[in-house]
Amino acid sequence: MSKIIAILNQKGGSGKTTLATNLARCLQLGGDRVLLIDSDPQGSARDWHAASEGAYLSVVGLDRATLDKDIQAIKGQHDWLIIDGAPQIENIAVAAIKCADVVLIPVQPSPYDIWSCADLVEIIQTRQQVTNGQPKAAFVVSRLIKNTQVGREIREILEEYALPVFQSCTTQRVAYVTSASQGQSVLDAEPKGEAAQEIQQIAAELQELCHG
Ligand SMILES: Nc1ncnc2c1ncn2[C@@H]1O[C@H](COP(=O)(O)OP(=O)(O)OP(=O)(O)O)[C@@H](O)[C@H]1O
Ligand SMILES: [Mg+2]
Repeated sequence: MSKIIAILNQKGGSGKTTLATNLARCLQLGGDRVLLIDSDPQGSARDWHAASEGAYLSVVGLDRATLDKDIQAIKGQHDWLIIDGAPQIENIAVAAIKCADVVLIPVQPSPYDIWSCADLVEIIQTRQQVTNGQPKAAFVVSRLIKNTQVGREIREILEEYALPVFQSCTTQRVAYVTSASQGQSVLDAEPKGEAAQEIQQIAAELQELCHG
């Protein structure tokens, strides 16, 4: 059964594309058939794909409000369809919420980023109320800086939104930037560093959430 994972947050720069590209590649390296869907009209995932001349993943652009319907036609051929969200909360994100099995919300540990999730969380929870809890949703802390107060407190603060928060997170690491510039994931660098472990842990938590 294919799973649709939407990575959403209307806040620009929250880490959506970084999480989408790395998670997609991680699941693919695990032996699954993965399609990365770029729903952002900016086309960052398509730019990432072009930087490697398409060496790793299949990426398609579906950046219309008809995303939920368009995805149905291609769904069956893949184990995972990972949607890289756009930095807006209107029609494209709403369509992604409608078709997703799981929504992941990358959020940076900063008060502005935490506050700005409120509208997205409300849309997801309203949807869950009419669809028997679908889609499942969880926060993934992004670009954590270790040994900072907000870094220690972020999980507790996010729990006030009444959505689960992944135990695993990405921390602030150059590996995410250098791998992206070559159209790669952090798992393609040798030797694999701690960033690769972070992504593998997030992927494992995602699988648990899907099957739980
Ligand atoms: N864990 C990390 N460590 C270091 N840099 C990171 C990390 N995660 C993301 N970045 C960098 O932060 C910037 C924003 O990340 P990204 O493009 O993934 O966010 P986004 O939510 O997709 O942005 P947009 O809203 O514009 O689509 C990028 O330059 C990216 O390389
Ligand atoms: Mg992006």
